[in-house]
Amino acid sequence: MAKILWGGWVGQREPLAFGMTSPPPVESLRTTLRDGTPILVRPVTPDDKPVLREAFTRLSDQSRYRRFMQPVRELTEQQLDYLTNIDHTSHLAWIAVDPSSPEHPGLGVARCIRSPKDPTVAEVAVTVVDSHQGKGLGTLLLGVITHAAVRQGIKTFVAHVLTENAPMLNLFTAWGSTVTLQDAGVLAVRMPLPQRVEDLPRSPTGRAFREVARAFRRKGS
Ligand SMILES: CC(C)(COP(=O)(O)OP(=O)(O)OC[C@H]1O[C@@H](n2cnc3c(N)ncnc32)[C@H](O)[C@@H]1OP(=O)(O)O)[C@@H](O)C(=O)NCCC(=O)NCCS
Repeated sequence: MAKILWGGWVGQREPLAFGMTSPPPVESLRTTLRDGTPILVRPVTPDDKPVLREAFTRLSDQSRYRRFMQPVRELTEQQLDYLTNIDHTSHLAWIAVDPSSPEHPGLGVARCIRSPKDPTVAEVAVTVVDSHQGKGLGTLLLGVITHAAVRQGIKTFVAHVLTENAPMLNLFTAWGSTVTLQDAGVLAVRMPLPQRVEDLPRSPTGRAFREVARAFRRKGS
């Protein structure tokens, strides 16, 4: 992954104007994927509804099924509201966009939602549009959402992953997650979040996460 560059404030609106309980994270980052595609990664805002709606149309049936574990044809207005009107405290989400393609900007999203039972645990999900899978974007988004979650006091990610979902399982296990069988065809993943950069493994995933952590540190956050 190329060197990550951090941008300035994201969004001009007062957080409370759209019902947030705390200000959203303020950084954005610019980097390039393995194949040189430039990307911008930033927190999701309510203005991202059309971006998510359009990007969803570029997900294959397989990717939709792997993400939602059921066939989903399109995202409803209610779902889009839920996915974009977020407080960045109990529900955190970051989006990767292609700054050179205003018509099809959405490339991927990582989000996590705190457990109501244990606020140190959050359920995580990552989605990358099919055209941009296998280029390191899923790893980068998992690194970004991990860092944002740690700053909010989250210590563990959990996820439910189909047993056949090799890319997501590879991503989680590269990280040292524990995986157990939950139901037929569904695995429960538990990923302890690294609280210090020194805890990161010397693997490609560890290197990508370390780069994200360094970029946050350069911004002093
Ligand atoms: C899972 C997903 C987010 C991974 O995103 P991605 O951008 O393709 O991931 P990366 O390119 O960072 O690859 C991460 C690792 O996954 C593995 N991987 C990627 N593509 C793979 C494939 N087609 N088959 C097997 N493993 C694969 C590799 O181990 C890779 O590690 P590497 O970088 O050392 O090669 C993406 O495939 C996706 O959106 N899938 C549909 C939605 C989904 O399943 N979400 C998970 C819900 S919890």
